[in-house]
Amino acid sequence: MKAILAVTVSALLLVQPLMSLRIPTTKTQHKLLLHSVIRPVPEASRVGLDKCKMCIDFADQALNELLNIILQGGVIGGCADLCNALASKTSPAIGTVCNLLCDIVGIEEFIKIVQNADLDPIYYCELLPLCPINDNGDAKFSVFEVNPTSGPQGKFDIDFTYVSQNGTGTGEISIEIDTVDGIPLGQAFLHELAPAGTFNGDIQLNAQPDPDCDPSQGPCEQWLPGDYTVKIAICNGECGSKHPHSKVYDEAQATFTITQ
Ligand SMILES: *[C@@H]1O[C@H](CO)[C@@H](O)[C@H](O)[C@H]1NC(C)=O
Repeated sequence: MKAILAVTVSALLLVQPLMSLRIPTTKTQHKLLLHSVIRPVPEASRVGLDKCKMCIDFADQALNELLNIILQGGVIGGCADLCNALASKTSPAIGTVCNLLCDIVGIEEFIKIVQNADLDPIYYCELLPLCPINDNGDAKFSVFEVNPTSGPQGKFDIDFTYVSQNGTGTGEISIEIDTVDGIPLGQAFLHELAPAGTFNGDIQLNAQPDPDCDPSQGPCEQWLPGDYTVKIAICNGECGSKHPHSKVYDEAQATFTITQ
């Protein structure tokens, strides 16, 4: 099983064309990846994209439970019944967003979309449709590096630059790390639809044991001395998804060494 390091994506996605931003973080101090990435989207066009982000946040938290409720049948009269059932298994706030989204398309279509989305939040939000689609997009990494390349346990900067000719569709930037103790680490960041251009991003990796890691919830990375390989992918849709509007645009990798 992959140890996913849950970090609130909203707190993580920082975005500036050709500029890296670094926000001081308190809450996420012990997470693997402290923050990242790029968005060149002008304020004026943000409205639709924020709906997309709201939808993805909702889907991340609710899609699994929603599908269970639907598969178990029984509940479903209208949007309110379904969303009340969801709220009672999650939270009132999630129930509210559920109602909002369900009312856009109506209960029958909403159920169909949840089933078709097959637990892929991006595809789900494209079906609703709240996330914009660009299937002619592209991206190529021109820079991918980890700094320092060698050092003791602690913070490492993961820097990347990508160039896109046609812009990119709603998708992800995903980071995976091959570790010395064999615990697979990975995290993906929502990467909203973006125009053509050159963009760079900066992710801070906290390569030291997390004192808050609870071993009953999964293995805790020890960051043993040795070589680590960091892999990045930029994708249309969810990286690795077989659904429509999904494609890995490009991948790159870099290594760093933790010294004794
Ligand atoms: C850009 O989009 C056009 C179609 O609009 C396509 O023919 C072309 O291959 C795309 N370029 C890249 C780099 O993917």
